[in-house]
Amino acid sequence: MEGAMSRNRLAVVILAAGKGTRMKSALPKVMHEVAGKPMLRHVIDTCQHLSPDRTVVVAGPDMPSVEATAAPHALAHQLEQRGTGHAVGAARAALGDTPLDTVLVVYGDTPLITAETLARMVEERQQTGAAVVVLGMRVAPPSAYGRLVLDRAGDLDGIVEAVEASPEILALDLCNSGVMAIDGKALFGLIDRLRDDNSKGEFYLTDIVGIARRDGRRARVVEAPVDELVGVNSRADLAAAEAILQQRLRAAAMAGGATLVDPASVFLATDTVLGRDVVIGPHVVFGPDVTVGDRVQIKPFSHIEGARIGAGAIIGPFARLRPGTELAEDVHIGNFVELKNATMGRGAKANHLTYLGDATVGGNSNIGAGTITVNYDGFGKYRTEIGERAFIGSNSSLVAPLKVGDGAITAAGSVVTHDVEADAIAIGRARQVDKPGRAARFREIQRAKHKK
Ligand code: UD1
Ligand code: CA
Repeated sequence: MEGAMSRNRLAVVILAAGKGTRMKSALPKVMHEVAGKPMLRHVIDTCQHLSPDRTVVVAGPDMPSVEATAAPHALAHQLEQRGTGHAVGAARAALGDTPLDTVLVVYGDTPLITAETLARMVEERQQTGAAVVVLGMRVAPPSAYGRLVLDRAGDLDGIVEAVEASPEILALDLCNSGVMAIDGKALFGLIDRLRDDNSKGEFYLTDIVGIARRDGRRARVVEAPVDELVGVNSRADLAAAEAILQQRLRAAAMAGGATLVDPASVFLATDTVLGRDVVIGPHVVFGPDVTVGDRVQIKPFSHIEGARIGAGAIIGPFARLRPGTELAEDVHIGNFVELKNATMGRGAKANHLTYLGDATVGGNSNIGAGTITVNYDGFGKYRTEIGERAFIGSNSSLVAPLKVGDGAITAAGSVVTHDVEADAIAIGRARQVDKPGRAARFREIQRAKHKK
């Protein structure tokens, strides 16, 4: 009865209570970002691909950022850090009473793990009925990882922490990544029997393997490439994880039909969406939430976040697109142009030295060099709405709130303070005064004065 009900019930427990002292940071370790996203968020998102019935994040005391990231999933608190086994124990109440087939334990500081690997572990546990399936990786000794000791049949016999290991065991290269898939019905029976009589005085989760074996249960190892399993303990590890993830994202972008002229200098976010035949020049950085249409060219040194870019657009070099940027097809954004919360219609252009904030620009309008939307008065933000086919002269200051109608022109150098109707020309600048011969006369006077 219970078997049929619980066969596929899966829970995930994410350990994130460690302070991560080696990061030397005010931020909890798992909140440090890889590809613009906190490590904990990576792990949570990856686990959701398995559609677990329950996800529990184990946080330490006083970690509001971890709690906010965990939501809407369940949260458990481990008040004192007494080891990985103790941390799993802290999740007991949050897991609830429903019988679980498998509990997957993952670490919040292992951000590169893939859903495929986690799925293989759950499958191995279900197919073999093992009490514990451990995710192993090959790491050339010496390393500080726990070592996986196999029996003759190739089952897992036990895990020995590096600090407790003999030289023979330290010579083994099969290491514990930390990830485990555990029989949900056996889990807390095993956890309850952990002891802390070891060199760190901690309740090691790894000891459940030996306990399960003494109960006559099986334990298995699933292997994955070490690239997926880097644990981040320091800033140097964080940079190493970033490099591996960026390599993965660049490879996927190219496989999907984008040209990266110099892949090593392009930085992507995990959610960057690139269309076909997009060409990205060197030194382009994508923050979160960017979608790029087909045939878009992004020239060197552009920084883009929170933006939708329509097909055929040309961006940069040296463009900055900030959140809320929406560009229709064939828009051109040139050098030193910044957009924030701004929409541009099809074929509109802003090619040089411009700030468009809280603005709408209609199709085929041209924004001259040096145009600034004056959108902020120190208190509120105001919108600038420019119609279609408008021509904004160079160095216009558009003082919002402001509407410029379809086909209107603003004269170069204008400070435009009130609405301009369709097809009108607005001139908001001092009138030019010419003084014939005055330049020559000026030079004569100066020469006489300086005796030249
Ligand atoms: C652990 C494993 C080791 C494995 C290594 C892989 C144990 C005893 N050892 O060692 O075999 O090779 O991971 O990286 O499990 N945490 C808590 N509460 C605690 C202790 C830890 O939440 O009381 C969390 C940490 O935040 C971290 C994870 O558990 O996310 C791992 O803890 P850590 O102390 O880094 O374990 P290791 O010593 O690296
Ligand atoms: Ca660790």
